[in-house]
Amino acid sequence: MLAGFFQFEPVFGVVSSNLDTIEEVADRESFDLLVLPELCTTGYQFVSQKEVRDLSEPVPGGPSTDRLIKIANKSNAHIVAGLAEKDGKDIFNTAVMVNGSGMVSKYRKIHLFHEETLWFTPGSELPDVVDIGSARVGMIICFDWFFPELTRILTIAGADIVVQPANLILPYCQKAMQTRSIENRIYTITSNRTGTEERGGKKPLTFTGGSQVTDVKGNVLISASANDEKLQVVEIDPEQARDKSITPYNSLMDSRRPDIYADLLGKK
Ligand code: ACM
Repeated sequence: MLAGFFQFEPVFGVVSSNLDTIEEVADRESFDLLVLPELCTTGYQFVSQKEVRDLSEPVPGGPSTDRLIKIANKSNAHIVAGLAEKDGKDIFNTAVMVNGSGMVSKYRKIHLFHEETLWFTPGSELPDVVDIGSARVGMIICFDWFFPELTRILTIAGADIVVQPANLILPYCQKAMQTRSIENRIYTITSNRTGTEERGGKKPLTFTGGSQVTDVKGNVLISASANDEKLQVVEIDPEQARDKSITPYNSLMDSRRPDIYADLLGKK
């Protein structure tokens, strides 16, 4: 299957123009699974709760999800995108997965980063592992990488690929995702954004780009530079993520010792 990312610089607050950018680029390329950055239709550096509320939308049923479904339909593909989701009084930092028929799954970020804690309600449910036919896919969002438990749980639940819409400003994640691949024998797709936002007199935030796809041994198959604005895809074989043998005597899943881990956690 052809899987990859579209790394770009969303324009803050102009949802329809960001969707135009995504559609123009997606229409020119072929892919089976495309991952877009976190909050890719709104931008990241909010300055008030009103601003977040005004820019957020229902997922599904909002204009961004509807448009992504249309784009996925033209490409006959699955698309994962980070959106600001409004649900009653709550606003979530959400990743949505769509195909041409509609929303397939969504995940509300459970580990909020920095000022996201001011604007968003943390999610309270684990992401699903979604069987998209050619692969089983789990979603995490950006700072979730700092909590390897989440990727491990998705692996135990059968994920071949962990996808990560991101708005990274710290420099460590790309290397850490190579480790997430090695320790779980899975593919990962990180879709980060580029550019700098400096709004409301706040400290500027510069996003680190470096979107990448890693294979089940942690090799970086494709990667973008810090500033590239491009869609990149690579052929991957999700079956490789189903072979968890490390040596003839060690299968990753069978070598785990949850019985002992539980004892340790009990002592905490
Ligand atoms: C992040 O979670 N946006 C760093």
